[in-house]
Amino acid sequence: MRHKTDWNKTLQPADTYTSNWEWTKAHSEYHFDDNIVDQEGDWFKVLGRFNNPSLWKAETERLVKESTKAINWQTRKFFGDSPKESPMLKQEEYDIAQGGGDPKKLMLTNMLDDLEDYPVLCKMKDHFGVIGDSNEFKVRCHTQLTGQMFNLHIDKLWDRCIEDPESICRITFFLEDWKPGQFYMYGNFVYERWKAGEAHIFDWPNVPHATCNASNFPRPSIQITGLKSEKTRELIANGSRDTVWTLDSEAL
Ligand SMILES: [Fe+2]
Repeated sequence: MRHKTDWNKTLQPADTYTSNWEWTKAHSEYHFDDNIVDQEGDWFKVLGRFNNPSLWKAETERLVKESTKAINWQTRKFFGDSPKESPMLKQEEYDIAQGGGDPKKLMLTNMLDDLEDYPVLCKMKDHFGVIGDSNEFKVRCHTQLTGQMFNLHIDKLWDRCIEDPESICRITFFLEDWKPGQFYMYGNFVYERWKAGEAHIFDWPNVPHATCNASNFPRPSIQITGLKSEKTRELIANGSRDTVWTLDSEAL
């Protein structure tokens, strides 16, 4: 990603804001100019892709069936290891209500947190070398069903490692090929046409993003959040659309 973030800013007190959007915008270095056409590589970057989808096909089908917990902004943390509401829930819900939406009805995605019974998906997750303790590191499977929509927002990952936020990263990889009607948006760039196994990273403190599934198929992905190891930094520095990773099927 091209932008170099100033990591030394002071975070504003959340209770002085009625809007989550405005709080995150106050700390973002994104341009917020709709006349600028964002390009891939500006605010998000494809790191590469695993090249043998047949290896994780059966696990993906099971994962989709087992991802039964639909979450909204209020419940999105309940299924992780910190069963509490976001401290800025009021402001997060305010933004949806401002657009005429019902924050309690809006279903963002279906979730599953535990990958223990999914050896191939675990191996894929481990490939990125993301590390951290239970506050810093988290894996979440997002199976976005038809009609589910994650409204535009900027992430607030600062508290994962407030003393060194530069080390925090969020990497997402897709388990199936893109289908028409599915999309992510980073800044004003629409990310689509991904392949099964394709992984990407985005500029979490800065870029507004959203995702929606208007296709007639579930859209399964896995999101890893944590601290960059040396291996992660190497993958980020050298990763590209041409990077291909082969899973060692013998070791599975
Ligand atoms: Fe996000």
